[in-house]
Amino acid sequence: MRAIVTTRNGDVSAMKVEERPDPAPAAGQVLVRVKASGLNFADILARQGLYPDAPPKPCIMGYEVSGTIEAVGDGVSQSLIGRPSIAMTRFNGQAELVAVAASQVFDKPDQLTFEQGAAIPVNYLTAWALLVTMGGLTKHESVLIHNAGGGVGLAALDIAKHIGAKTFGTASAGKHSFLKERGLDHAIDYRTQDWLPVLKELTNGRGVELVIDPLGGSSWKKSYRALRTTGRMGVFGMSTASASGIRGKLRAFKALMQTPKFHPLGLMSRNKGVFGLNLGHMWGEGEKVAGWTQEIMRGVAEGWVQPHVDRAFPFDQIADAHSYLEARKNIGKVVLVP
Ligand SMILES: NC(=O)c1ccc[n+]([C@@H]2O[C@H](COP(=O)([O-])OP(=O)(O)OC[C@H]3O[C@@H](n4cnc5c(N)ncnc54)[C@H](OP(=O)(O)O)[C@@H]3O)[C@@H](O)[C@H]2O)c1
Repeated sequence: MRAIVTTRNGDVSAMKVEERPDPAPAAGQVLVRVKASGLNFADILARQGLYPDAPPKPCIMGYEVSGTIEAVGDGVSQSLIGRPSIAMTRFNGQAELVAVAASQVFDKPDQLTFEQGAAIPVNYLTAWALLVTMGGLTKHESVLIHNAGGGVGLAALDIAKHIGAKTFGTASAGKHSFLKERGLDHAIDYRTQDWLPVLKELTNGRGVELVIDPLGGSSWKKSYRALRTTGRMGVFGMSTASASGIRGKLRAFKALMQTPKFHPLGLMSRNKGVFGLNLGHMWGEGEKVAGWTQEIMRGVAEGWVQPHVDRAFPFDQIADAHSYLEARKNIGKVVLVP
């Protein structure tokens, strides 16, 4: 099979499409013939050497795929063969074939293309955990979604709209008209202005009940200040560190130095909460994740989960796909097709 291999830490030239032996499904696994693989920001950070959870290099990245089941291992029903599916993969998804536990695979709804199918797991599960499970967002509350035009951002917007909450989002200005079409109540350009006074003005000086922040460093300090009483902040990334080579290391160090510390007594007296999420550390919680997946699939059936695929890049253009995301050109999901 062909697979995208990240050969070393570095710039986009570190990735190569290579021939690798076909995997075989072990007991309890299925073999998926991949039609589309999701590209995530974590893949960029992994290539840059800034992602602690990445496998040792050379490695095949890829947390999610959609495709058809080509073979099954012992203990898995043969009736699954040929079924259009979506799977969560613990790496190795950016390849023509991937073997994955049957428990991490679910049927692809007919109304989704394979490309849209690959846009579901990471973005929507992350957004669900942040907004619903941990953030407890309700109809009468408001939420600030940072990077609202990104993959997780758009998924969070779908979910927040479904809940009925008021939505604020930061994004590059070029993404605002699309975000408004998708139902975002207030788009804030955080690249050319200080977003906090704008948000405060829009909320009569009060702020919002929930902020989801994947930027890290000093952004977490500012997002915390955007919380009104009973507000919660969900932290789930450090995009601010993104850069290749020594620049990335320096940025990561700076972000760490600027990371705020929250004292329990301070949280108590201000009626605020802070929580963190790492979907990549949820592998031992299959039942919980399956429950979230069911809710998201209900959203697909009811029409309020609408994965937006910005572009599909062939495997051979993996360097362009990474550059596209790094240059912030994407609105929603970027997927890779064999
Ligand atoms: N903890 C978890 O479980 C988890 C799961 C999924 C994702 N994440 C994190 O969530 C964030 C979004 O991930 P994603 O895959 O959905 O990516 P994405 O949002 O689709 O793509 C990146 C977008 O983020 C914005 N951005 C902010 N800082 C950036 C930077 N330094 N370089 C490039 N873009 C930057 C850009 O939007 P603007 O043009 O609006 O600036 C860009 O379009 C990442 O930090 C990722 O690591 C965490």
